[in-house]
Amino acid sequence: MSNFNEERVLSVHHWTDSLFSFKTTRDPAFRFRNGEFTMIGLKVGEKPLLRAYSVVSANYEEHLEFFSIKVQDGPLTSKLQHLKVGDPIIVSRKATGTLVLDNLTAGRNLYLLGTGTGLAPFLSIVKDPETYDRYEKVVLIHGCRHVNELAYGEMITKDLPSDELVGDLIRDGLLYYPTVTREPFRNRGRITDLITSGKLFADLGLAPLEQAHDRVMMCGSPAMLADLKTLLVERHFVEGNHGEAGDYVIEKAFVEK
Ligand code: A2P
Repeated sequence: MSNFNEERVLSVHHWTDSLFSFKTTRDPAFRFRNGEFTMIGLKVGEKPLLRAYSVVSANYEEHLEFFSIKVQDGPLTSKLQHLKVGDPIIVSRKATGTLVLDNLTAGRNLYLLGTGTGLAPFLSIVKDPETYDRYEKVVLIHGCRHVNELAYGEMITKDLPSDELVGDLIRDGLLYYPTVTREPFRNRGRITDLITSGKLFADLGLAPLEQAHDRVMMCGSPAMLADLKTLLVERHFVEGNHGEAGDYVIEKAFVEK
């Protein structure tokens, strides 16, 4: 049996010239944990051209959703950005990844730190009721260069709080903090700088980051991950992975080369 399903595009949303999202049908047998990624792509000639994509939709939803950059000369995204409703798309039958709740130990607050399309895995995590069973506050931080790259902001602030299944949990438990580095906005600066200066915690009314109480998931560029990791190691946080749960977990945002 093939390791892939052929799904169909249900809708496409272009956020900017360089960012878009799309929804597809979902084979009911495709199972994943919120926060995981899978391989998706298109047939080019006879061969499938595939890349890793975090699943934006929660694992209880009937469709799948993905969030992508558009790279004009990128082998896959130069084609993927032209997807239309009804087009076929290949989706692996398997999902994997480190950004899952089971890789973290218990704690008080869960920080989800994402830059650019590194937001994607956290969208399924914030829709998971289990997240709010495990943590008192879930703090979703999205860092981008420009305001128009803060994709999903309206969904997070307007749609999710009135969601039938998780609306109550989200209204009580989710704090969303979008921040921008290269133009004016109500929150400004890199996530690393906002943590180091303490501004993030002052703005949110939370205590500064502390290993005893806080847990962290991060997803972004290699430079962002390296800087955040240094900052956590200085604060005695221990990395978790599939073998052993820890205080923080890391995943590279998958950027097409
Ligand atoms: P900046 O504008 O200061 O580079 P990118 O598109 O390059 O991945 O950047 C997405 C966001 O992540 C931008 O706001 C960018 O800020 C920020 N960023 C880039 N590198 C780092 C880093 N090493 N640590 C924290 N944030 C970073």
